This record gives sequence, C-alpha cells and structure tokens, in this order.
Amino acid sequence: MKKEQIQENGMDRRGFLKRTALAGAALCIVPALEKVNAAEKVISDRQKSLNTGMPSLAALHDTRTLGSGKAAFQVSVMGFGCMGLNHNRSWHPDRKQEIALIHEAVERGVTLFDTAESYGYHVNEKLVGEALKGYTDRVFVSSKFGHKFVNGVQVRTEENSTPQNIRQVCENSLRNLGVETLGIFYQHRIDPNTPIEVVAETCGELIKEGKILHWGMCEVNVNTIRSAHKVCPVTVIQSEYHFMHHSVEENGVLALCEELGIGFVPYSPLNRGFLGGMINEYTQFDPKNDNRQTLPRFQPDTIRANYRIVEVLNAFGRTRGITPAQVALAWLINKRPFIVPIPGTTKLSHLEENLRAADIRFTPEEMQELEAAVAAIPVVGSRYDALQESKIQK
Ligand SMILES: NC(=O)c1ccc[n+]([C@@H]2O[C@H](COP(=O)([O-])OP(=O)(O)OC[C@H]3O[C@@H](n4cnc5c(N)ncnc54)[C@H](OP(=O)(O)O)[C@@H]3O)[C@@H](O)[C@H]2O)c1
Repeated sequence: MKKEQIQENGMDRRGFLKRTALAGAALCIVPALEKVNAAEKVISDRQKSLNTGMPSLAALHDTRTLGSGKAAFQVSVMGFGCMGLNHNRSWHPDRKQEIALIHEAVERGVTLFDTAESYGYHVNEKLVGEALKGYTDRVFVSSKFGHKFVNGVQVRTEENSTPQNIRQVCENSLRNLGVETLGIFYQHRIDPNTPIEVVAETCGELIKEGKILHWGMCEVNVNTIRSAHKVCPVTVIQSEYHFMHHSVEENGVLALCEELGIGFVPYSPLNRGFLGGMINEYTQFDPKNDNRQTLPRFQPDTIRANYRIVEVLNAFGRTRGITPAQVALAWLINKRPFIVPIPGTTKLSHLEENLRAADIRFTPEEMQELEAAVAAIPVVGSRYDALQESKIQK
C-alpha cells in the first residue's frame, strides 16, 4: 500500500470533520427552520458515515517507518495481531465474523497484519489470507519462520532456521496467504544450530527474489542484531514489551534499534489482555486453546497481585477519559517514534478502543508519572515457563 493512499484515507476523515464543523458553524447564522434542517443534515451525514463504517469511527491516519535506508518500511502506526483469531486466546467468533473484523481493521487504516506459520500450523495464515483477499494492494502481512514442526506438530525443544526450512516456510506462507510477497518475514526464535549470519543471508536472498520485502527477528539480543544487520539490514525487531515486561529497555535492544535505525514491534502489547482489565483471578481460559493458563503470570494468585498495575492504568486513564488498554497502547506509541504495537482482538469494540489509542498524546511529565506509578508495583510471576524462557536471548 502506498503512502498517498493512507493519506487519502486520512483526508476522508479530516474532510468529514471539516464538513461537520462547517455545518455546525452554519447553525449559528441560519433562521430557526433552517437550523432544524441543518441539524438534521448533520445527523444524517453522521448516520451515513456510521452506516458505511467510515470517518466518524476510529481510524488510523498516521504512519510510521520501521527500519531505515533500503530496509525502510512504512506502515500504519498500529498493526493487528492475528494470532488470537484461532490460537492460544481461548474462544473466538466464527470465521465469517473474524473475516468481517479484519475487513473493519483494513477499512480503518491498519496496514500491517501479523501472523506466523505456528499460529495453529498454517491455520491462522489461511484465515488471514482469506480475509485479505482483494485487499493486498493496500496492506501488508508479516509472518514468521523458525519453529520446528514434524507432521504439523511443533517440537517445542528445538528450532529450525536452516536455509532450507526458511525457504520452505516462506513458500508455504505465500501460498497460505495468497500473496506474492510477504511484508516482513521474522525469525520467530533463535536457532542455536544455525548462525544468524546464515539466516540473514537467506533472508537477503528472499528479498532479492521478491518473496519478502523486509526481514526481522524476535526476542534476540544486541550481539545477534548487530551481526545480522551487517549481513542484511534488519527492518524490525519484534519482542515482548509492555508495562509488565521491560527487558528491551534493560538489555539495550531498544537503544540499539534507535542507534541502527531499526523499527520495533512490541508483541503482546496488552500483556495478553491482562492490561485491558478484563482478566481477573476467576477468569477461565479455554483448556484446549489458551497458553495463558500455563504461564506463571496468569495463575489466580499472580493475577490478583498484579491487578494493582491495571488499577494504576485505570486511575491514570479515568481523569483523561481513556481506558487501561488505551493507556497501555498509547504509552508504547508515545515511547518512541519507531514503535508499532500489534494488539490482537476478536471484538469490534476492542478494535475501536485500541485504534483510538493511536491518537492519544502524553506529555513527558505524564509519561514520567505513569512510569513511576507502575514501577512502584512489583510484578509477580515470570512471563514464560522455563522452556519458553530458555529460547529468549538475554
Ligand atoms: N513474536 C512472538 O513471539 C509473538 C508472541 C506472542 C504474540 N505475538 C503477536 O502479537 C500479537 C498480540 O499478542 P497477544 O494476543 O499475545 O496479546 P495482546 O495483544 O497483548 O492481547 C490480546 C488479548 O487482549 C484482549 N484485548 C484486546 N484489546 C482489548 C481491550 N481494548 N480491552 C481488553 N482486552 C483487550 C484480547 O481479547 P478480545 O479478543 O476479547 O479482545 C486478547 O485476548 C499476536 O496476535 C501475534 O501476532 C508474537
């Protein structure tokens, strides 16, 4: 999708606001009957816009650039994390409703959709592919390689980033998604048996062949990023980052992204929904489709202890008319200009709420106040189990 098109969408929205403002101004000068007519027109214009799902609803109009130089990639200020549409986030609506939700996201200006080979082996990619059919001139999809699968079942103790597997996964992703090129192709987790230089070289070849536009890595450390970037410029790092997990601030990854001109996509920006405030110690997760029940931070006692953090976001948001989820997302967007969060949702109401967070600006004092209030509360429980944590580079 081109920048001009994104701006065009923004113009539509601005155009609507301008027209509404002019209609409002007209109200002040016309006689009484005309006032009624003018008011009716405003209402009917607004109704029209509601019916078409366009301007008066939440929409993204800003873009951000991930990466720099030849690796630069312009996308909407917020993306859409597609994993939870079928995988690891409990119950979900039927396929038709989910496709309609993705269409809403496209119409409202989201241009980056995040999936992976592993989100229900090929299932999520096929769903996203079906939903984006006819839209791929306007949006991009990122997918991921690197987990090891045997007959469609993940071997959790091993990773596979051999060039042969990267290429195979790429072909599968292109086919599943029905696209000729992936926007971003990420290494999902580091493979200790394949040097990162080999991975970078393979991704560089895929870029030259036009199969991927850009590449990135998840949960890697500064040494890996430096080595990879020398072989093939990296567009984006995707790692966990939110109010309850700050390791990219502490291990130098965020600073290195800034130094090298690499973008950053924080995954699970709402801490898997926790920061939205709708999860409490009584929450039941789908026993067959939710990895949160295995995570130390999602046990009843840790949920209870950590809920104080949600309450901080609530208190901060209450006086500003914004929700805890919006505080969490807006904080990330305000944190650095090269950050593009990818919250996931199965609900139109949450999509609406999340997209509006992109318009929220905090002053440096507000950022400080928020960070200090959150830092005062110790986070209880680790984010991953021992096996998952062992795959994260420190
Ligand atoms: N690279 C990696 O290793 C990695 C790992 C995990 C995830 N990811 C990516 O990151 C994306 C997002 O991650 P995620 O799903 O783990 O976490 P998330 O975006 O932090 O949270 C998603 C959860 O939050 C809920 N939610 C969304 N908006 C909300 C709102 N406004 N208020 C309250 N609850 C809200 C959703 O439930 P509803 O459906 O009810 O809205 C969903 O269960 C994934 O889709 C995936 O693309 C990448």
